[in-house]
Amino acid sequence: MKTEYQDDAEYPKSLDNNDPLGHFRQRFFLKKNYIYMCGNSLGLATKDAEECVLEVMEQWKNEGIKIWTVDDNKYYLYSKYLSKLMAPIVGADADEICIFGGTTINIHQGISTFFKPTKDKYKILVDDLNFPTDRYAVDSQVRLHGYEPKDAVKVVKSNGKFMDEDEIINAMTDDVAMVFLPTVYYRTAQVLDMVKITKAAKERGILIGWDLCHGVGAIEINLKEVDADFAIWCTYKYLNGGPGSSAALYINRRYHTRLPGLAGWYGNKIETQFLLRQEFDHQQDANGWQIGTPNVLSMASLEGALRVINEAGIPNMRKKSLHITGYLMFLIEKKLSDYGFTVGNLREDSKRGGHVCLEHDEGYRISIALKSRGIAPDFRDPNVIRLTPTALYTSYEEVYKMVEILLDIVKTESYKAISKNRNYVV
Ligand SMILES: Cc1ncc(COP(=O)(O)O)c(C=O)c1O
Repeated sequence: MKTEYQDDAEYPKSLDNNDPLGHFRQRFFLKKNYIYMCGNSLGLATKDAEECVLEVMEQWKNEGIKIWTVDDNKYYLYSKYLSKLMAPIVGADADEICIFGGTTINIHQGISTFFKPTKDKYKILVDDLNFPTDRYAVDSQVRLHGYEPKDAVKVVKSNGKFMDEDEIINAMTDDVAMVFLPTVYYRTAQVLDMVKITKAAKERGILIGWDLCHGVGAIEINLKEVDADFAIWCTYKYLNGGPGSSAALYINRRYHTRLPGLAGWYGNKIETQFLLRQEFDHQQDANGWQIGTPNVLSMASLEGALRVINEAGIPNMRKKSLHITGYLMFLIEKKLSDYGFTVGNLREDSKRGGHVCLEHDEGYRISIALKSRGIAPDFRDPNVIRLTPTALYTSYEEVYKMVEILLDIVKTESYKAISKNRNYVV
């Protein structure tokens, strides 16, 4: 069913007044006259996150080394504690998830655990649109096995913008040992059908891992139904875990007895970890894939953030996200299409993630102009302004105001005064 929107200034106010998730805005640190559209990159801080970080500081100040054992070993077993909060967000069991390290590190952990090339089956299948860190990790993993990426990394070509799922499946030839793909593309927000692609891989005896970075917290994910072999994701985007907050790794329970590719003492069984033996005694659940001491401060902010997400519920968040991004696309088409703007993402709900991909030939300079007008977007080459009205802290009125500002920037051509020289972080 097509949603009907209106383009007047009163309409967003009525949407905000009737927004069942509207009260969650109070849980975030929002700045007056600053419209935050960058939750696809770094989610905003919650008051809950601050509370949890301050609690860790108090424990550290008061207890020193005893911080590890307060609250029934909460911080010593922090991954286990947080996995319970993470499980409903990705539809997995808590013991299939561990929270540790960083996204790229966890890609290495997943691939090094599962990539066991043989003479005839030694390739990793990837695509040419994924975030580059995934590719760098894949290339280096095949090199560790003595292969050259140009031979052992099989790249499915996109049309430059979108990926065709059937082409991915057709590329699953006998020589492919593993597939590694993103669930939502970082530039265009295209969603891949994880169930269909995973099923195809399994039918061909190929292992499969997913990068959920741009999906988690934005779309509904049911890892039980997907039944992939492993998955990794960051926690600082739609989950609002904080800059560089610890990442996550899912290991399907059918592999819990397998040894991790990268072992460390935190993957040892809890019961024998402090016996400090020379032999690794593997913890046989996802926590056995941890490597070293947990980054407690960057896990504390995640604890607070996950509490808020679980209160709101992913299905409710997805519903609002689809509606508010739909409203943004409607306004772009209604008010901005005469000024060189186009919506660059796919339209079907099942095929688009949490951000709107606004394209313009002058996208870079317009994104800088937006920043100078109190909006936080980001820009991705060659021409994409990513805009993310989030379910929990963006109002419909902010979306309306942002489109009015965009209109003003292009009508007055104020962006033309901005240098084309690029900043390091865009
Ligand atoms: C798909 C994807 N994977 C990984 C990363 C980043 O990895 P890391 O958290 O290790 O910097 C990003 C960052 O935006 C990403 O979009």
